[in-house]
Amino acid sequence: MAVKTVLRMGHIDLWQRATEVEKPFDNALHLLVQDLIDTMIDYDGVGLAAPQIGVLKRVVVFGVEKCDRYPDVEPIPRTILINPVISTIDELMEEGWEACLSVPGMRGQVPRYKTIQYSGYDETGAKISRIVEGFHARVVQHEVDHLDGIIYPLKITNLHNFGFTQEGFPENQPTRSD
Ligand code: NI
Repeated sequence: MAVKTVLRMGHIDLWQRATEVEKPFDNALHLLVQDLIDTMIDYDGVGLAAPQIGVLKRVVVFGVEKCDRYPDVEPIPRTILINPVISTIDELMEEGWEACLSVPGMRGQVPRYKTIQYSGYDETGAKISRIVEGFHARVVQHEVDHLDGIIYPLKITNLHNFGFTQEGFPENQPTRSD
């Protein structure tokens, strides 16, 4: 059990491109995966990418059974995804609310592809390939962005849709026409 500190926006590691993990996966990779899972659970997160704990490797973990922060979302199986690749199915995008353990206390509305195919490897080296949509697709796009040094506020198209949850946001958001 090793819960790591999640780096917050402003730390330089969150702006870097992470490097591919070489096969065969070694013990350092297995320790990294365990740290990511332990940390994600301790922080009550839906997903976590290795750069968020200061390791610039292309590894993400995600999954949710039921989460207070996203009470209405469908469950996502706990997944370890190494060297992930995302392919788009079509150009259809949708806006949705996101939060991030590296941007604590805030949420924002981000456009994402509605449906994607993603592939990669689990920690045993077995190939994973899935076509997913909705919240599952959104979480994977969010986590894989971390591997390219992209945090969700960079993708918010209207900054009126970005704020602190403790201010009652977005429920207190006035309706705007712009
Ligand atoms: Ni994040």
